[in-house]
Amino acid sequence: MKASVTKGLGQGFTVEEVELAAPAGHEVRVEVRASGLCHSDLSVATFIGGEFPVVLGHEVAGVVTGTGPEVTQVKVGDHVVGSLIQHCGACVNCLGGRTHICLRPEATLRSPGQPPRITWNGAPVAQGMALGGFAQEALVHENQLAVVPDEMPWAQAALIGCGVLTGAGAVLNSADVRQGESVVVIGAGGVGLNAVSGARLAGAGTIIVTDIEDAKLERARAFGATHVVNSRTTDPVEAVHDITGTGADHVFDFVGVRPVTAQGMRMLGKGGGLYLIGVGSNDAGVDVSSLVALSGSQKVQGVYMGSSNLKRDIPFYAAMYLQGRMNLDDLVSREIRLDGIDAGYEALKDGSTARVVITDFS
Ligand SMILES: NC(=O)c1ccc[n+]([C@@H]2O[C@H](COP(=O)([O-])OP(=O)(O)OC[C@H]3O[C@@H](n4cnc5c(N)ncnc54)[C@H](O)[C@@H]3O)[C@@H](O)[C@H]2O)c1
Ligand SMILES: [Zn+2]
Ligand SMILES: [Zn+2]
Repeated sequence: MKASVTKGLGQGFTVEEVELAAPAGHEVRVEVRASGLCHSDLSVATFIGGEFPVVLGHEVAGVVTGTGPEVTQVKVGDHVVGSLIQHCGACVNCLGGRTHICLRPEATLRSPGQPPRITWNGAPVAQGMALGGFAQEALVHENQLAVVPDEMPWAQAALIGCGVLTGAGAVLNSADVRQGESVVVIGAGGVGLNAVSGARLAGAGTIIVTDIEDAKLERARAFGATHVVNSRTTDPVEAVHDITGTGADHVFDFVGVRPVTAQGMRMLGKGGGLYLIGVGSNDAGVDVSSLVALSGSQKVQGVYMGSSNLKRDIPFYAAMYLQGRMNLDDLVSREIRLDGIDAGYEALKDGSTARVVITDFS
């Protein structure tokens, strides 16, 4: 089968003929119909690094074409969405429903003694985030797949797997935003826009979005932002305090560069929470003054995948979309071929592009 292989840091994405193993145990073979270009894959390919060569791609939707002998949760023909949340299903955190902090995520992988899932010219190829969606087919543990209704369009379905789970989940699960509360979304990209959608579902009273591109801010308004601030031209901290009067209840940082995250901290009102989602560089983070945080009873929380439970949340967001209560259509700015990933990531630099999705794997 064809897969887009990343051979090393900064080496981009090249289509190669690779081999996919037959499904064993709880593995499911998926014919990929759509695969979104999330910024995190570009970060892995450009500065975070990891195992190479690798097939990246972790926003995947497709059809089940084969199942291992122990698979019980999906069947051939099912339309499924993948998620990078690896969970064993049996540890105390999984049993408590908090699968995003599973204590044995490696239980979803092959053991070192087994042959690799993907090989290229006989040599092993790593599978990005245990999904490897930049390919015609993927071999995925059933715990990483959720079934969605057949009427879900492929590109929109794929985006649920990361951008939607992360953005909307940060608001609905991690922060548990309540009706009437104020929300700030820093960075209206493919993930941040879903935080805006999540804030609408939660009934937030004020939804302020900051970005440095007017086109992104206009789109954020269409998703439900009540106020937008261009932080290139307006001090976003002052703007948030002017709009809310008291400081924000919840600030979500989808950018992750130190000066921006520090601004997020200063936007908080009493009892407010800052949620760290974006990683813009390896030194992303924030200094917290104990005196300021304790006197305002403020908190800072790292958010992994929107604290999502994929088996519950992926079908939920699909239902919200099919009922017309969640905008996924305007996230899909462009559909590309498997060999167009480098150009697709270039296109994301243009403010008019929200998400680019591979839908042609020929
Ligand atoms: N924590 C997690 O589990 C998780 C999951 C998925 C993605 N992520 C991360 O979330 C981040 C966002 O991903 P994305 O795909 O939406 O990226 P993106 O590039 O589409 O969006 C980033 C947005 O931030 C804006 N921006 C840049 N600098 C800014 C500034 N100084 N102030 C305000 N806005 C600014 C950009 O214009 C853009 O609209 C990435 O860092 C990604 O790696 C984290
Ligand atoms: Zn992602
Ligand atoms: Zn577990």
